[in-house]
Amino acid sequence: MTPKQTSKLPGFYNLQIQDRLERLLSVSGLSAESIQIFSGVDGLTISQADHMIENAIGIFGLPLGIATNFLINEREVLIPMAIEEPSVVAGASFMAKLVREGGGFHAEASDSEMIGQIQILDVEDPEDAIEKLSANRDKILDVARMADPVLVDLGGGPRDIEVRILRDTPVGPIIVLHLIMDTLDAMGANAVNTAVEALSPLVEQLTGGRVHLRILSNLADRRLARASCRVPLEALGFGDYSGEQVRDGVIEAWAFATVDPYRAATHNKGIMNGVDAVVIATGNDWRAVEAGAHAYAARSGTYTSLSQWGTADDGTLTGELEMPLAIGTVGGATRVNPTAKACLDLMGIESARELAEITVSVGLAQNLAALRALATEGIQRGHMSLHARQIAIAAGAEGDVIDIVAQRMVSDGIIRIDYAEKILQGKT
Ligand code: MEV
Repeated sequence: MTPKQTSKLPGFYNLQIQDRLERLLSVSGLSAESIQIFSGVDGLTISQADHMIENAIGIFGLPLGIATNFLINEREVLIPMAIEEPSVVAGASFMAKLVREGGGFHAEASDSEMIGQIQILDVEDPEDAIEKLSANRDKILDVARMADPVLVDLGGGPRDIEVRILRDTPVGPIIVLHLIMDTLDAMGANAVNTAVEALSPLVEQLTGGRVHLRILSNLADRRLARASCRVPLEALGFGDYSGEQVRDGVIEAWAFATVDPYRAATHNKGIMNGVDAVVIATGNDWRAVEAGAHAYAARSGTYTSLSQWGTADDGTLTGELEMPLAIGTVGGATRVNPTAKACLDLMGIESARELAEITVSVGLAQNLAALRALATEGIQRGHMSLHARQIAIAAGAEGDVIDIVAQRMVSDGIIRIDYAEKILQGKT
């Protein structure tokens, strides 16, 4: 999207899917072909799928929604989210609306530095081996560079090495060599794995040991993304809840996650509801992002919250989220899957850095949506009405009747397909 356009699409929720697609066509600057891809008609083909994995037999669908209202680093952005869970897209969009009142999200991401690990065993003199590896840093980086000259030409490639010894292991001392590589706009697993494999002979020669594993680390703690936001009290208050009450309730909920891993796991799961949905929509490896996020949340030795909430001097609610985000805009499925490509185009982004900035902002919005709901009316109310809509549709309701049937099920406290059918047949 160009800066003049807006991500505010009032009433988008109430439109029929075809009308939503037309609205998107008119505001996004995307071609009609790209918009058609979103409808699912021209997405990933079975023959593309057959080239992606083994034993392919079909294509698995997920709902694709658009999170509205996002203002990130002063840029309006419509955000595609692929997710099966109700309330997530609505929650992100609503929180983005509140955060706009405080100036939107501010986000930044570090360089795309990934870590490749080499495990070295059977070393007679570990101290000497470590010294040799460190002394040969430049030679190691040169060999690693040769593994991906294209990446090096583009300005990326190996940056540094780190060497450690893990003394107390079930198989005796292990020396670990980390190769730090900037993979630019790619997630980078292939580039890193190729480089660490290429380094094995040299590493064995230098250490006199045996190289065992050579693989990327998903704890991408040199590839971090950060988002922050401020929500004014006027925007936070609703119904019987004052802005102060909601703010303090959010902070109390967050405090629980800071000290209790049982709560932190769920708190972070809420963040990942948003993060994963963008990661999946853009064809990225969500398992890698999940692994990195949770390992990062445990980096102090205790698993804790990935986000932080507090009160600014003027009473405003402040939020911050920092997490590893190894995601790319080139390579992998990002460009093979036409839907992923159209999703990247919708956000108008060129770089992995921008994608990480958007993704971490959605994670923060999602966290706020969950904490705000939990700290006030609970999540079931919103959740149940969306769930009831799905059941009503499954029972055959259409148009305005969907909401009528859904509301009736919610007020009667019976959200079941047979009950929806009875309502439709006028039998209750
Ligand atoms: C549900 O998918 C996510 C939440 O449980 C997150 C949280 O508890 O913070 C609502």
